[in-house]
Amino acid sequence: MKHFTSIQDLGPAGVESILAKAAHWKGKFPKHLVDKLLGMVFFNPSLRTRASFEAVLARGGGNAVVLEVGNGVWKLEDRLGAIMDGDRAEHVKEAVPVLARYVDALAVRTFASCADDDADHADPVMNAFRQYSTVPVISMESAREHPCQGLADLLTVQETFGATAKVPVTLTWAPHIKPLPKAVPNSFLLTAAAAGCEIRVAHPKGFELHPSVLEEAKAFAAYTGGSITVTNDQTEALQGSKAVYAKAWGPSTRSGLSAEAVKSEPDWMLTRKHMAKAVKDAIFLHCLPVRRNVEVSDDVLDHPSSRVVDEAENRFHVQRALMDWLLNG
Ligand code: CP
Repeated sequence: MKHFTSIQDLGPAGVESILAKAAHWKGKFPKHLVDKLLGMVFFNPSLRTRASFEAVLARGGGNAVVLEVGNGVWKLEDRLGAIMDGDRAEHVKEAVPVLARYVDALAVRTFASCADDDADHADPVMNAFRQYSTVPVISMESAREHPCQGLADLLTVQETFGATAKVPVTLTWAPHIKPLPKAVPNSFLLTAAAAGCEIRVAHPKGFELHPSVLEEAKAFAAYTGGSITVTNDQTEALQGSKAVYAKAWGPSTRSGLSAEAVKSEPDWMLTRKHMAKAVKDAIFLHCLPVRRNVEVSDDVLDHPSSRVVDEAENRFHVQRALMDWLLNG
């Protein structure tokens, strides 16, 4: 059975195929999901993910059942062997196979704890859904990855430059008011590597991405002819870049940095002054939501080079292609 909870589930050839299908279907509305039912399980809030998946099912002739865990739905336990004497009334061992009896696929959103990078990278809740589901599982962001976002990001790069191979792209860390998960930067890195980009990752010391993600991305890049450079020098990473992706994430839990460290580098907030170090007309990317004038300045977000709304629209297009791949073969 197919699942899509990681870019590894597609690999470089699959990424290319999904981007091609998504681009081909733009402006068309095939009824490719008639009578299909998607169960959407949210452990965490959303705007784009929820709306775009519901739109994919409705436009395709199908339907969605939306469950918000802990909000009119039992809180779910995922720990094996847990003594369930707290507020989590149901175990995923029962909940997941039960839901799978009602729907054709299950989509799950479950954020990282940000307390232990190794534990987050084991992706316990998403992997429990994969283990106990009898229908395909699709990630709407998990502790390790946000692969639908990565595909939407790379579709935006492909549309802008006509291709993804060898396009110089920069992922630059941004300040925030609190530590955020690393799923979005992980997925941009993995998807850009699978699409053959020349990737620069810039962050202050202590904000390293998990070694397992870097290794996986390097393996993709070796296969596709892309490259990955990691630096603590934001200016160096921006020079010559054609696409600049700003994103806040929390410190590596191995670094010993406190949660307050996310506020300690305000000069990393992306402004037009920073964008000027990239090539002229370089595009700006962000997954949204974005905290204006904390992560990114107004003048970047309001500049014609910002592609953030196109990027969010592309969630719809890549998810249509993914649902077709998962459910129609
Ligand atoms: N980019 C993204 O996943 O947005 P939401 O959190 O609003 O779904």
